[in-house]
Amino acid sequence: MLDQFQRKIEYLRISVTDRCNLRCIYCMPVEGVQWMPHDSILSFEEILRLMRISTQLGFRRFRITGGEPLVRKGILDFLREGAIIPGVEDFMITTNGLLLPKMAFDLKAAGVQRVNISLDTMDSERFRAITRVGEVSSVIQGVFRSLEAGLDPVKINVVVVRGVNTDELPNFLKLAKQYPLHVRFIELMPIGISSKQRADFVPIQEMKELLGLKENILTQGILGGGPAEYVQPRGFKGSIGFISAMSRHFCDTCNRVRLTADGKLRPCLHSKNEVSLRDALRNGTSDEILRDLFAQAVWHKPAKHHMNDEALQGQRVMSQIGG
Ligand code: 5AD
Ligand code: SF4
Repeated sequence: MLDQFQRKIEYLRISVTDRCNLRCIYCMPVEGVQWMPHDSILSFEEILRLMRISTQLGFRRFRITGGEPLVRKGILDFLREGAIIPGVEDFMITTNGLLLPKMAFDLKAAGVQRVNISLDTMDSERFRAITRVGEVSSVIQGVFRSLEAGLDPVKINVVVVRGVNTDELPNFLKLAKQYPLHVRFIELMPIGISSKQRADFVPIQEMKELLGLKENILTQGILGGGPAEYVQPRGFKGSIGFISAMSRHFCDTCNRVRLTADGKLRPCLHSKNEVSLRDALRNGTSDEILRDLFAQAVWHKPAKHHMNDEALQGQRVMSQIGG
């Protein structure tokens, strides 16, 4: 459907849980966050109903996120059902990869087409320093299991944080050269906990310098749409990309809204304005009225983000929104 600024909104990101088996430094405070109580989380039936309703509004692309979506019980059954909803053309998942060694083939069999894996470092000690728990070897194994399983494309999300992984960027470049992996370097966004980390922000221009890539190589073959700028240097099996939240405005072409695990439609990642659909789902509201509520929330999607204004962002941390 179109919003009031004539943007075509067809992409729904669905957070199925705020829980996570990691505690990344830029995502959660050291003491963790208070999990949402169980009964405030949408059931899979409720999420499937909203997915069906959204396809009637023209939504075609769906990404399942968290917290960590693979930790939620029953996730595979849910994915199997979601994948066959008429109108669902693109069905994807974003995961921290810890459970992929075990689950990559199951995801493919359930009808998931592609996967984004968060991996900020390939060094085990550093991984610990970033995620506070967890083994990087599991994630790396999960990356290769995903390729074997035929999930395509497999994308790697690398959040670049000054002094944490800036020196590893060339290693990720090698990864994209050797394997059909799409490595995306992401600027740290000042959301929740990381709003206190502005000094650690590395702009894309600097990332490109750290990678030692020449501009003439960078301009070859731009792949894909969306906020990432992709490049496939000569001789690479995969590609690299840069995702800017801060230095470039991509709000004009934004095509997405988010559904939080507790049933709130969030039209902009960076705006605390949310519309709760949970009560309506639970008090016998008809599909038609739910569809109207959904459509109204999308229609009012803001023109652009206010990332530099904390008061407008609200209190949620990233794991509660789903990235
Ligand atoms: N800035 C940028 N990316 C972030 N992510 C989590 N927090 C931030 C942040 N403050 C990333 C995760 C994951 C994706 C869903 O969002 O690393 O790849
Ligand atoms: Fe979990 Fe992702 Fe947050 Fe890390 S960034 S704690 S993997 S939700």
